[in-house]
Amino acid sequence: MRTGLFVLAAAGLLATGSVAACGGDSGSDSGSSGSSSAGKVGVILPDTKTSARWATADARFLKEVFENAGVEADIQNAQGDKTQFQTIAEGMISSGVKVLMIVNLDSGTGKAVLNQARNAGIYTIDYDRLTLNGGADYYVSFDNVKVGELQGQGLVDCLTAKNYTKPVVAELNGAPTDNNATLFKQGYDSVLAPKYARGTFDKGPDQSVPDWDNAQAGTIFEQMLTLNKNIKGVLAANDGLGNAAIAVLKKNKLNGQVPVTGQDATVQGLQNILAGDQCMTVYKAIKKESDAAAELAIALAKGQQPTTATGTVTDPQSGEDVPSVLLTPVSITKDNVKDVIADGFVTPEELCTGEFAKACTDAGIS
Ligand code: BGC
Repeated sequence: MRTGLFVLAAAGLLATGSVAACGGDSGSDSGSSGSSSAGKVGVILPDTKTSARWATADARFLKEVFENAGVEADIQNAQGDKTQFQTIAEGMISSGVKVLMIVNLDSGTGKAVLNQARNAGIYTIDYDRLTLNGGADYYVSFDNVKVGELQGQGLVDCLTAKNYTKPVVAELNGAPTDNNATLFKQGYDSVLAPKYARGTFDKGPDQSVPDWDNAQAGTIFEQMLTLNKNIKGVLAANDGLGNAAIAVLKKNKLNGQVPVTGQDATVQGLQNILAGDQCMTVYKAIKKESDAAAELAIALAKGQQPTTATGTVTDPQSGEDVPSVLLTPVSITKDNVKDVIADGFVTPEELCTGEFAKACTDAGIS
């Protein structure tokens, strides 16, 4: 972290909050609209297909916080394309952003962008995914090992409830290029490994899904099931992968009999839970995550020393400690789907459509 670069802003400078917002109409991409109080922030999100969150939650929440703070923000999505990711970053850097926040598509391309930003004197934030050996100034995410532990425990609970003897468990892991997927796996394997060791569960196929590609997940799981008809539980690393597995199970009339896990509390995942086809999901309060990241970015854009990144995460490749904010994930089953609604993350209108209306009422959602 380059604390030396922080400007000890004068009181007047700190108090201003709306200058940049006034310039919003003139196009967020070009120039810094003459704001003297805060620099511009660039945000690059990864895609819109690997999880609904990137399309429906993060951008919306981030935009809201920046607007309320009167800080100009350019929020773009790389649509899963590494070249586009790089192009967007170069555009933001040359447009003079003061802070760059990224969700990398892999650590290699993420690191290249972070290096370019650093060379241009721009502060950097890893949002949700740590860029290995990337040297970002800050990192904001959830306790991702904990996410995995909740998934592992959720599957154990569902399988125990089914009373299966030595059920075969298949693992559909996230992208091998996403450090989060490594952490999720670390978490669920820590719960499942003792079960395998004791012979309570049987370890089945275990495969990563490149780029979290939901379609590929379907193909991979179909092959798993063809080769091992006895699969009784699926540890799927997010709701998208889980839904791909559920579609295959449905084709084989096995949905509901084979518990499947998930993550992200997407509308689809919650509906699968209500239908009895998905065992659990993990709710990560994206609003809190985006608030925390935007808050850091706003302080940096205003030349202030952030005070909120009180934790640290050690980058396993560089060995460096990255100042971090890590939030706590929550396990969601049919019993507490209503908590996701109460938190305002999903609305009853989105969730309780057509065939799900009755299940919603049964789950105490109106
Ligand atoms: C995120 C998850 C998301 C996955 C696929 C992970 O890095 O933490 O929330 O489901 O990427 O986009």
